[in-house]
Amino acid sequence: MSKIKKALERAKTQGFATERQMESQENETERAEQVAPPRYFQTRHVETSPEILKKNRIVSIDEDHPVTDQFKLLRTRILHRTRSSGHNTIQVSGFDSEEGKSMVSVNLAISMAKDTRQTTLLVDIDFRKPSIHKLLGLGNNIKGLKDYFENKLSLEEIFVSPNIDKLTVLPAGGRMPNAPEVIGSPRMESLVKELKERYPDRYIIFDSPGLNTCPDPLIFSEYVDSILLVARSDFTSQESIETVMNLVPRDKLLGTVLNDSKWSESMAYYYRY
Ligand SMILES: Nc1ncnc2c1ncn2[C@@H]1O[C@H](COP(=O)(O)OP(=O)(O)O)[C@@H](O)[C@H]1O
Ligand SMILES: [Mg+2]
Repeated sequence: MSKIKKALERAKTQGFATERQMESQENETERAEQVAPPRYFQTRHVETSPEILKKNRIVSIDEDHPVTDQFKLLRTRILHRTRSSGHNTIQVSGFDSEEGKSMVSVNLAISMAKDTRQTTLLVDIDFRKPSIHKLLGLGNNIKGLKDYFENKLSLEEIFVSPNIDKLTVLPAGGRMPNAPEVIGSPRMESLVKELKERYPDRYIIFDSPGLNTCPDPLIFSEYVDSILLVARSDFTSQESIETVMNLVPRDKLLGTVLNDSKWSESMAYYYRY
């Protein structure tokens, strides 16, 4: 049984995946052999405004902001744990909605791009509530993965280079009602593999929905090396945490960021070793 099918089976037992999704996955798997690797060559440049970034709590661009140091610490710990194993794909997920997953994804991606040793690619795979383009102020009509998966644009046409050094972005491009099928498709698996292998010294951060909200992040977790969870202080429930801890592939779990903690400036983190 394929890894994606196994994830769908697990999602199904949790009531997240339907028979139709399972069948669709089987058909897609049969076509897997025919999927050509994606190709890309050029990047669109889009200016980001410091005011918009600040308003959206994207603080990592500002060396003087107290939370920037916390993201640097998070970056250092992640690099320390992943570099020696060649793990360069990190999925940011969490428990429910509105926990700060996208805010953490963008700040972490910028912080990683600032580290001299690697470039960073930030990918929005939240097709329920795409928000990376909003947080970075890239404009509401920016094209992205939706257009790629609907065969309207090629991959080389959807990369965005904001004016943040060494950071490249792949926006979601919009909501997709068939998100589980798209995420579970061989084309998505092939895309992640290509992104991962093309530049081994590049880190790729995928911003995904919470594991308790839909099957998408669990299906996607099959493709990545590691997963970072985001919980929100006085918000994420004990019940949600227990459910997710039974779902998430533990061997891939890097740790959990505790966002909006009252006992720190704005964000704290702890790690499971
Ligand atoms: N530490 C924080 N302090 C205050 N507001 C925050 C904090 N983290 C996130 N938010 C706000 O909470 C909302 C949800 O954040 P977001 O990153 O979109 O969450 P998610 O991706 O988990 O749905 C946004 O309006 C964001 O600005
Ligand atoms: Mg989000």
